[in-house]
Amino acid sequence: GIKIATIGGGSSYTPELMEGFIKRYQELPIREIWLVDVEEGKEKLSIIGGLTKRMWKAAGYPVEIHTTLNRQEALKDADFVTTQFRVGFLDARIKDERIPLLHGMLGQETNGAGGIFKALRTIPVMEGIVEDMRRLCPNAWLINFTNPSGIITEAVIRRMGWKRCIGLCNVPVISMMSEPGLIGKKPGELNYRFAGLNHFHWHRVFDESGKEVTGRILEHINEKNGGTPVNIYHAPFPMDILRSMKAIPCGYHRYYIAQKEMLAHSLEEFHTERGTRAEQMKETERELFALYRNPELSKKPEQLSRRGGAYYSDAACECINAIYNDKKIPMVVSTENNGAIPCLPSDCIVEVSAVISAAGAWPMVWGEMSGAMRGQLQLMKAMEECVIQAAMYGDPGALKEAFMLNPLIENGGEGDKVLKELLIAHEKYLPRF
Ligand code: NAD
Ligand code: G6P
Ligand code: MN
Repeated sequence: GIKIATIGGGSSYTPELMEGFIKRYQELPIREIWLVDVEEGKEKLSIIGGLTKRMWKAAGYPVEIHTTLNRQEALKDADFVTTQFRVGFLDARIKDERIPLLHGMLGQETNGAGGIFKALRTIPVMEGIVEDMRRLCPNAWLINFTNPSGIITEAVIRRMGWKRCIGLCNVPVISMMSEPGLIGKKPGELNYRFAGLNHFHWHRVFDESGKEVTGRILEHINEKNGGTPVNIYHAPFPMDILRSMKAIPCGYHRYYIAQKEMLAHSLEEFHTERGTRAEQMKETERELFALYRNPELSKKPEQLSRRGGAYYSDAACECINAIYNDKKIPMVVSTENNGAIPCLPSDCIVEVSAVISAAGAWPMVWGEMSGAMRGQLQLMKAMEECVIQAAMYGDPGALKEAFMLNPLIENGGEGDKVLKELLIAHEKYLPRF
């Protein structure tokens, strides 16, 4: 049987992960699941532990569920380690969002200055996890969901040298589920090719006869079911640019391509009682945990779909399934480039369509990127590299370089203030600064 260790087990997403494993139990014979959290997450972990046990019991499968604050105990002899933790909890995300907004810049979980600081807090913890894994489960696969997922995965594979790691995101899953309906097709009928970086990729689509339908889908991209997750405001994409790029952008491109509109919307929520997305999610989380506590509940409640990460278990569980059963199926993952996007370093991490088998992820070639896409990608990858350099070596120069490169941060002036204030706000979680 398989041993799974989930770091950040107290996450409200865990019931979704469990649902994914339960659905696949016949193919994926799990023996034990260890949910790991930290002292501050103890209460959430115990509520999630209870619900998890009820879910498996209702399914009728003899899986052992353990909850623990001892990471080593959970990692010992694990086959798959999944990571879904949030260093500093939602309160840290609130600061990532509010501080840049106070200075007129976008505050967002994975983009702009907030996203940079989420990586700075997360990477040192990830180094500890990888160190533990070297000793305790040297053959395990690390399936990373922790954001910023692409940057964290790059740090793990390229800088820490842990090659058995795959980064995941639910955004491609949402696109593939919602877009076919825009042109009268059903999910599964179309062929998808993705390439770019996590939260910064594009895709092209072909129908069953091989005919490209990218252009047809693009014409509907601004509609309600255009493939954008619920956490992102649907500012309209400027169609002239998309038609010229001939590729479908993921929803996160809105922060760059419609920067002013996105910022205006965030500021509007920030200045009303709605508050930032993290503040809204604190409330949603309270409601979810009130449901999870109910001893009658033994399945994932519908309300979890209000979180932007809904459906992520389709990625996580299917990825583990594909590795374990050597399925050789296409999935969109963060993995080593290896030439799939020739304008980026071959050893950097990209988010691409890849074949998943017992040997891990093998990327499919996208080929040349047109000029505008190439320029954006190279800038963003360089920015990511600076963030990782800063996080791993406590390098303040690299951090300033990342701020300089990031298109959502002002250079000098208010940008410098945001940097200073975020360093102070997150001091407790930045051991190297
Ligand atoms: P959350 O705030 O509920 O945190 C999850 C758990 O992590 C909490 O129970 C917390 O106590 C615990 N934790 C904090 N520090 C820890 C540490 N050092 N070790 C172990 N556990 C620790 O977060 P969430 O909203 O459930 O999101 C979890 C993570 O998944 C975040 O990093 C988020 O950005 C990410 N996420 C990724 C995607 C994606 O597409 N890749 C989608 C949604 C969420
Ligand atoms: C999805 C993304 C995640 C992101 C999340 C935010 O869009 O793929 O990476 O962090 O939603 O959701 P939330 O509900 O926490 O704002
Ligand atoms: Mn994501």
